[in-house]
Amino acid sequence: MKTVKIAILGHGNVGGGLCEILQMNRQLIEERIERKIHVSYILVNNVTKERPWPTLGAKLTDSFDEIVNDNSIEIVIEALGGIEPAASYMRSALEAGKHVVTANKAALAANYPALLEKAQENNRQLLFEASVGGGIPALTAISNPLQGNEFTEVMGILNGTTNYILSKMWDEGLSYDEVLADAQAKGFAEADPTADVEGIDAANKLSILMALAFHVYVHPEKIPTEGISKITLKDIENAKKHGEKIKLIGHGYWEADENGQEILKYHVKPMKFTSEHPIFGVDNEYNAIYINGNAVGQLMFYGSGAGPLPTGSAVLGDLLSIARSL
Ligand code: HSE
Repeated sequence: MKTVKIAILGHGNVGGGLCEILQMNRQLIEERIERKIHVSYILVNNVTKERPWPTLGAKLTDSFDEIVNDNSIEIVIEALGGIEPAASYMRSALEAGKHVVTANKAALAANYPALLEKAQENNRQLLFEASVGGGIPALTAISNPLQGNEFTEVMGILNGTTNYILSKMWDEGLSYDEVLADAQAKGFAEADPTADVEGIDAANKLSILMALAFHVYVHPEKIPTEGISKITLKDIENAKKHGEKIKLIGHGYWEADENGQEILKYHVKPMKFTSEHPIFGVDNEYNAIYINGNAVGQLMFYGSGAGPLPTGSAVLGDLLSIARSL
C-alpha cells in the first residue's frame, strides 16, 4: 500500500482534532483510500510543551522551512489560523509542489484569488471545505453536484461561537460573558474571539461562499459587518417575549436596481426570526447554510459549524480526497 506523507501546520483545535480522528478511524480510512497516511511533521511554536491531542509519532518542529524543503511531503494541512504567516506558508507549500488543505477562512478570504492562482500555476490542489460551516460539506456541494445552477442567494448562520452564545442567553438566561467563556472552553471560538463576536469570522466565510456560489470575490473587509457584542440579555428577553430569536446572519443576494440591473448585495448582521423560519431551530454551535439555485430551488445544510472533531472531519475529507488522487 502506498504511503502518503503529510505535514500539519498547527496543533490546536483544528490540527489536534484532525490527529484525533486519524487515530480513531485510521484502519477504516486506510482501507477506504488504499493508502497509508503518515504524519511526518507537526509545526508548533513550542516543541517541548505537553499536548492534549495525539501527535501520531510525528516530528514536532518549529521550522516551516524544514517541512517545505522535505520533498517527501506531498500534502500540507494548514491549521494555524490567522492571516499571516498562514497565507505565506500556503503559497510556499504550493510553490514547492505540495497540495494544501486549509480550514483557515481568514487567510483564505483575504487572499482568495492569489491563493487559487498559485495552486493553478503549480498544478496543485488547494481544498478548503472546513473553512465554512465546520463539518458541513456545503462548499463541495456548491462546487460539484450543484455547479450547474445559477445561485440567487446564499444565507446562513456561519459562526458557531456566536450562535452558541445567543442560544444559551435565550435558553438559560446566562450573560454574554459567561457563555463566551464556555464557548472558548469547548474549542468553538477563535484564538481571539473578537473575530467571532464582531462578525469578522462570518464575513470571511460569506466572502468564500459568495466566491464559490456567485464567482464574485468580495474582500471580507468590504462586507458591511455588525457583530453581537452589543446585544444584551434584555434584547434577548424582549425578542423571546415576541416569540423571536436573534441570530447572526451572513447574507449575499442579487437585487435589481432601478434600471433593472442585478446588483450583488451582502452583509453580516444580527437578525430576528420567528419559529416559522427554519433558521429559528438552528441552535448552539450549529450552523445552517441556505442557498437558492435556479434549478435545484432552495436548500439548507445543517450541522456542527465549530469544534475540533467536526472541523477535523472536513479537513480529513479534503486530505483523503487528495491522497486518493495521488
Ligand atoms: N470560531 C469559529 C466559529 C470556528 O465559532 O464558528 C469555526 O470556523
